[in-house]
Amino acid sequence: MCGIVGYIGTQQAAPLLLEGLTRLEHRGYDSAGVAVLGSGLRVAKKAGRVRDLSADLPKRFGGKIGIGHTRWATHGPANDVNAHPHVDAKGDVAVVHNGIIDNAAALREQLTDEGVELVSDTDTEVLAHLVARSTAETLEERVAEALAAIEGTYGVAVLHADFPDRIVVARNGSPLIIGVGDKEMHVASDLGALVRYTTTVAHLDDGEMATVTATGFTTYRQDLTRVQRTATQVDVDPASYDAGEHESFMRKEMLEQPAAAERVLRGRLDERFGTAHLGGLNMDARETREIRRVKILGCGSAYYVGQMGASLVEELARIPADAEAASEFRYRNPIIEHDTLYVAVSQSGETIDTLLAVQEIRRKGGRVIGLVNVVGSAIARECDGGIYLHAGPEVAVASTKALTNMFLGFALLALQLGRVRDLSISEGKRLIDALTAIPAQLQEVLDGEDRLAEIATGLAQAESLFFVGRVRGFPVAREGAQKFKEISYRHAEAYQTSELKHGPLALISPEVPTVAVVPDDELTERNVGALHEIAARRGPLVVVTHPDVDLRGLDVQRIDVPRSARELDPILLTIPLQLLAFHAAQVLGHDIDKPRNLAKSVTVE
Ligand code: F6R
Repeated sequence: MCGIVGYIGTQQAAPLLLEGLTRLEHRGYDSAGVAVLGSGLRVAKKAGRVRDLSADLPKRFGGKIGIGHTRWATHGPANDVNAHPHVDAKGDVAVVHNGIIDNAAALREQLTDEGVELVSDTDTEVLAHLVARSTAETLEERVAEALAAIEGTYGVAVLHADFPDRIVVARNGSPLIIGVGDKEMHVASDLGALVRYTTTVAHLDDGEMATVTATGFTTYRQDLTRVQRTATQVDVDPASYDAGEHESFMRKEMLEQPAAAERVLRGRLDERFGTAHLGGLNMDARETREIRRVKILGCGSAYYVGQMGASLVEELARIPADAEAASEFRYRNPIIEHDTLYVAVSQSGETIDTLLAVQEIRRKGGRVIGLVNVVGSAIARECDGGIYLHAGPEVAVASTKALTNMFLGFALLALQLGRVRDLSISEGKRLIDALTAIPAQLQEVLDGEDRLAEIATGLAQAESLFFVGRVRGFPVAREGAQKFKEISYRHAEAYQTSELKHGPLALISPEVPTVAVVPDDELTERNVGALHEIAARRGPLVVVTHPDVDLRGLDVQRIDVPRSARELDPILLTIPLQLLAFHAAQVLGHDIDKPRNLAKSVTVE
């Protein structure tokens, strides 16, 4: 979704801002803009791509301080006027903003009554006018006064022609990071935008502001009382934000899965006791034993992996567990129980629906742990403890390696919960052996890419597809359908194989292929029976299964993945579905890393 960059220092700001905006493109956006303060404040903004903005950027955009933005339209269509930065009537103040101002309509009316002419449809524009209208002495006071009038979420950066030595930034619900360089400072909503210049960063917390000058920064709460934030070194390889020799980030990230899986497991398997070591949970054995229920919350693919995680917890720890879409959770006034362990799962750690669910649980006194990839992200910081996923930066909108590590994170959690209950040491060791083998097995599945590409070429021709599975296989089918629709734009619907007869079988025809997930488990026979029913209606079949599973003479395109422990099979069955989606999208000529209408981090409700 929207992205913010800012620069102040000794170099020309415009090229750095444009470079930063390019790095934010993957978040999803439909317009972009920059404001640079040189001899006066100049703003350029445009619907479309950052490269369109760069092409049109006038040479006179000289200046060593500036802010930039990529906008994902919420209030008003994606056009040049609604693009950020927004300025006040005199053109002294420029503002970029991520988030949503809930009381924008009332503020627009109030400003209009006062004679202010609003030119855009956006909520953000009111902020520029509110800052400009303030008569307070310092820019910090003016910004604080403006923020006090608004309700909603924001990450903001403000530039003012009368205060040419500073950028004032603030955060409430939308990330804001300050990067410390040598006689220069950066501002961004995402580490990826500044990691090339510096890996020394400070994160603002909600309700905090900062003044950023060329030589440093000061932080304070919104009542302008000082708060101490020190910059720390982040352990990230800037090269992981480059696709390198790969044609897309999605492919690069899929291929990184064996290495990413090794990282999430490293140091967390205790062979001697057949258990997992998850120090970050901040729970001792006694507290762990008291858990009576596990509730997993996530959105989109993270929710589907959450369903896989719930099965792992039920199977290994015998604790009732379920997953729910975080976006729905808080709107049904959920009952929060003290002996339920709530688990928030998120790659970005920024997804607003998941964050708000976490806040609702904690407000009611519940305990939440996070399975989060981005270190120091909002969800990670909001939780009582957690498991970092160590997948490395994920840039492609379609999540792959982070989801694999979420699954493995759940396996570790289920193992630890199981081993303080009834899971025996030998069972624990069986799981450890299976987990240890996963990275090499992931590689084995990835090595079958050429054949998957062939199958995908056929699937790409269909307008509509089914993805089916049962029990353990159903979340796999849901995730497969999700990946396929996201990047191929084909209608892909997931169904329980057992439910086909209750309705959707009516849609089966030679034009509607079915991708079936058939693990080797107690349901294999029944699954194969259902596939025969599809074949009898001349529905083309792609079957993702294990070697030796007997499909009883079915004529299908078969994809065999190696067996793991039964409980862990879902993750290996998921990988071919990523590759099918990827190659179908490639055949169709789509922009794989930036699918239409989607954003990497969904930071608005
Ligand atoms: C699918 C996808 C989305 C995300 C969802 C949650 O490929 O990427 O469905 O899984 O938006 O995002 P995070 O994990 O960042 O909370």
